[in-house]
Amino acid sequence: MINSKRQRPFVFATFAMTADGKVTTRSFAPVDFTSREDKLHLFRQRALADAVLIGHTSLKRDNVRLGIPGELQQARIKRKKTPAPLRVIVSNKGRIDSRLKIFQSTTSPILIFSTTRMPKRTQAALKEKATLHLTKSDKIDLAAMLGTLRSKYNVRRLACEGGPMLFRALLERDLIDQLNLTIAPYMFGGAKAPTLTGLSKEFLPASVHCSLIDMRTIGDECFLTYRIKHQRRRN
Ligand SMILES: NC(=O)c1ccc[n+]([C@@H]2O[C@H](COP(=O)([O-])OP(=O)(O)OC[C@H]3O[C@@H](n4cnc5c(N)ncnc54)[C@H](OP(=O)(O)O)[C@@H]3O)[C@@H](O)[C@H]2O)c1
Repeated sequence: MINSKRQRPFVFATFAMTADGKVTTRSFAPVDFTSREDKLHLFRQRALADAVLIGHTSLKRDNVRLGIPGELQQARIKRKKTPAPLRVIVSNKGRIDSRLKIFQSTTSPILIFSTTRMPKRTQAALKEKATLHLTKSDKIDLAAMLGTLRSKYNVRRLACEGGPMLFRALLERDLIDQLNLTIAPYMFGGAKAPTLTGLSKEFLPASVHCSLIDMRTIGDECFLTYRIKHQRRRN
């Protein structure tokens, strides 16, 4: 019997969305529509992971460092973990700016999964700051990437922090195990503002069935935890 979970990490995604399902506005500008409690929730989820994963657009737009606060680092050290999870960036084109804030922070090692489309000059600049995994194919094989994270870096729990394009790509391949979803008390409207699964007009290959395992409300926000029911069990 093949247990897929042994070959890849448990993947949990954490998102905040408006009551009308939007994760940002149509300009994709960083938009702060959640409470301090939600930000703490995101940090706590991140701190539970061995690695945190982000798509290149979110990294670029939000210019995040993907670290965790000192007290959560201390709690990890007590649990005999590294102070902070590994940070993993995915990009097909590989045109990643080495001046982004993430590369100024040394809180934990950075891995970049990309392709040999990454310009040579960028490769040289990023090699100083991160470990590069470049594939010769045009696109990254996400399942293979998860396999490498599990086998080479011993990543058992992976926190996916989006964005929607990356989340959808993982979801389409049945590679998401849990969704932590904060519903924030706003509505943005707009067909050009991405939802949780992005802007694609296409349906998912099959509807994804979730099972609600936890629900909390704090103030006007609702914190949901869904387990994703897998489509294709590999028995
Ligand atoms: N509300 C929330 O909780 C939340 C969470 C996260 C992000 N966001 C928002 O989401 C917006 C960005 O989302 P997005 O959907 O446009 O972008 P995204 O998923 O963050 O990043 C997309 C990029 O990641 C790389 N990528 C995606 N799928 C890939 C795959 N299968 N294989 C290899 N690389 C892949 C590609 O990079 P290259 O183009 O370099 O090839 C792609 O263009 C931002 O505005 C951000 O603020 C909101």
